[in-house]
Amino acid sequence: MIDPWASSSVDYDKLVNKFGIKKFSDILDDIDNPISLMKRGVIFGHRDFDKFIPLINEKKDFTVVTGMMPSGKMHIGHKMVVDQLKWYLDKGGKLSLPIADMESYGARDISFDEAKKIAITEYLSNYISLGLDLTDKNVFVYLQSELSLVKDLTFELSKKTNFNELKSIYGFTGSTNISHLYVPLVQVADILLPQIEEFGGPKHVVVPVGVDQDPHIKLTRDLSDRFKSKFGFIPPFSTYHRFLTGLTGGKMSSSEPKTAIFLNDTPEIAGKKVKSSKTGGRESLEEQKKLGGCPDQCVVYEMLVYHLIDSDEKLNEIYNDCISGTLLCGECKAMTGDLMKKFFEKLSEKQEKSLEIAKNLL
Ligand code: TRP
Ligand code: SF4
Repeated sequence: MIDPWASSSVDYDKLVNKFGIKKFSDILDDIDNPISLMKRGVIFGHRDFDKFIPLINEKKDFTVVTGMMPSGKMHIGHKMVVDQLKWYLDKGGKLSLPIADMESYGARDISFDEAKKIAITEYLSNYISLGLDLTDKNVFVYLQSELSLVKDLTFELSKKTNFNELKSIYGFTGSTNISHLYVPLVQVADILLPQIEEFGGPKHVVVPVGVDQDPHIKLTRDLSDRFKSKFGFIPPFSTYHRFLTGLTGGKMSSSEPKTAIFLNDTPEIAGKKVKSSKTGGRESLEEQKKLGGCPDQCVVYEMLVYHLIDSDEKLNEIYNDCISGTLLCGECKAMTGDLMKKFFEKLSEKQEKSLEIAKNLL
């Protein structure tokens, strides 16, 4: 069972084989202009994305849906979603962006007012600073709690969902609070919303998410079948990305500040955090020169792969220099820390203006 509210580490290969998630690398060659996250295996799995590729390549109408639960600070791992959304918008898609304030209230007891504040100051403003134009006419941002269409759809969906089904997906027990049953259905409604009449009727929808969200996706696809005759729903496609490793080696998590680089950190702090993170280096310099480092187990290298280096050639060079022992961790961390600092400098220049724009969105 994948638990969307747990924070344990994940064996991605197992997920691909066991849960019916397909390998993204098998379909990569069919995609026009894939982004680095796709080419580098960060996006590792999908459901039915192969059926979706011809549609984007031919520039057919589609909508991308992904949501954010406003429960804490936005960290650099969340940037992966933004990079993907930009790509889909460039491909001519529309974007529907729910803010899951009902989820943060139900699962984390965060009030609607607080959630709205977090959504604006942490998420929407950073999305804008990262280059996503949320004022575009093709973008629709909403708070779950304020959109009656999504709440009505949730109720409609509940008519064909039963308790045992939710229990087997999420492991609910007799003492589970009913809001925990309700919240996944709101998310299903978020994903199916673009297909209701008010939003133009049935259409192709893609959902790029972290793999912890797959239980919700599976439920969505099942429910879309059950409501096919009534609404004509087409089962949504999905992609799954890996989590960014935390600075100390586990998962990067907003609730554990030591593990994360936050987007509202200053450039200096962001750079310093890189320099103090866990590497794949050896015990001693001599050993590293002799045996080389392990970039595959290195948080610093992962930052380069996920966020900081566009050129595949340059990245390969670093990889090879690391495993051959010519590049040592001190130098590598200093270089990566500087890149991160520069990245944050650019981000912070935009922050004030982005915040003003974000305030007007909700
Ligand atoms: N549950 C998601 C999270 O924890 C947020 C979310 C709400 C979402 N609605 C969605 C994600 C619709 C994808 C699609 O971040
Ligand atoms: Fe990581 Fe760089 Fe050290 Fe290699 S040299 S282990 S990539 S920090």
